[in-house]
Amino acid sequence: MTTAPLLVSTHEELEAVLAPRREGSAPVVLVPTMGALHAGHEALLRDARARAGAGVVVASVFVNPLQFAPGEDLDRYPRTLDADLELCASAGVDVVFAPAAVEMYPDGEPLVTVEPGAAARALEGESRPGHFRGVLTVVAKLFGLVRPTAAVFGEKDYQQLVLVRRMSRDLCLRVEIVGVGTVREPDGLALSSRNRFLDPDQRRVAATLSRALRAAQDHAAYGPEAARTAASSVVEAEPGLEVDYLVVLDPDLGEAPAVGEARVLVAARVGSTRLIDNLPVVLGSAS
Ligand code: PAJ
Repeated sequence: MTTAPLLVSTHEELEAVLAPRREGSAPVVLVPTMGALHAGHEALLRDARARAGAGVVVASVFVNPLQFAPGEDLDRYPRTLDADLELCASAGVDVVFAPAAVEMYPDGEPLVTVEPGAAARALEGESRPGHFRGVLTVVAKLFGLVRPTAAVFGEKDYQQLVLVRRMSRDLCLRVEIVGVGTVREPDGLALSSRNRFLDPDQRRVAATLSRALRAAQDHAAYGPEAARTAASSVVEAEPGLEVDYLVVLDPDLGEAPAVGEARVLVAARVGSTRLIDNLPVVLGSAS
C-alpha cells in the first residue's frame, strides 16, 4: 500500500510538517532532486526510506536556476510534478518540498553563496563555470530548511557527490552524505532526465559511454594509463560522440594512484545533449 506524500511549497509549510517529526533522535533523510524523476532517483528515495526507518524522508523537487548558465537547458528542463509525486508515493516518501524559484531566491541572485574551491573548476566545472557554486548553494539552503541527519546523492553525478561531501565536512554542516550507485538501462546507459532528448540513433551512440567505462575497468589491473587508453579507443571508434573529458582519478578526484581504488569519468556530447557517466576501477593489481 502506498500513501501520497505531503506536498509543501513554502518554508513555513515545510517547517510546520517537519517540526513535530524532529522530536527525539528519529532520522530525517533528504533526497534533493530537480524532478522529472526516473528509476535512478527512485533508488535514492528507496535508500532514504530504508535509512530513515521510523523517521521522515523528504524529497525536494526544484529546478535550481542558480546552477544553470545562460543558454543552458533551464527552460527545456522537463517538469513532471504529478508523475514525480506518484513515484515518491511508491518509494515511501513522506514529504515533497517543491518550492517556486521566488521562494528559494526571494531577492533574485543571492548575495552570499557557497564557493566550492578549485575542485569545482575541473571536469564539469570547466565547461560549466559557476555550476557547482549554484549546486552547493541550493544544497546548503535545503540543508538549512530541512536540517536532515543524512542526505542521499547519486554516484551518477560523481563530482557533485564529492563536492557536497566536502561542503558538509568543511562547513561542519553535520549532515551525513550517502552515495548510491548509478541505475542503468539494460545496455548500460546511465538513466538521466536528458536521455529523452536523444533520437534513436543518438540513443545507440550514447550507450558507447558505459561501454568505454567498462573497458577501463577491464584494463585497470594494468594501471591508470592502460585503463584510460582502453576507454579512449572505445569512444574514438564512435564518430557520433564528441568527448569533453575522459579521465582516471582517485576517489576524491585527485591524481590517480598507480595501485588501488580510483574512478574513471567521462563527459561527451551526442548532438546537442551533454551526457556524463563514471565507474569505480581498481588499479594496478596485475603489476
Ligand atoms: P538531479 O539531476 O535531479 O539528480 C538528483 C539526484 O539523483 C542526484 O544525486 C543524482 O546524482 C541522482 N541521479 C540521477 N541519475 C541517476 C541514476 N541514473 N542513478 C542513480 N542516481 C541518479 O543532481 C541534481 O538533480 C541537482 O544538482 C541537485 C543536487 C538536486 C541540486 O539542485
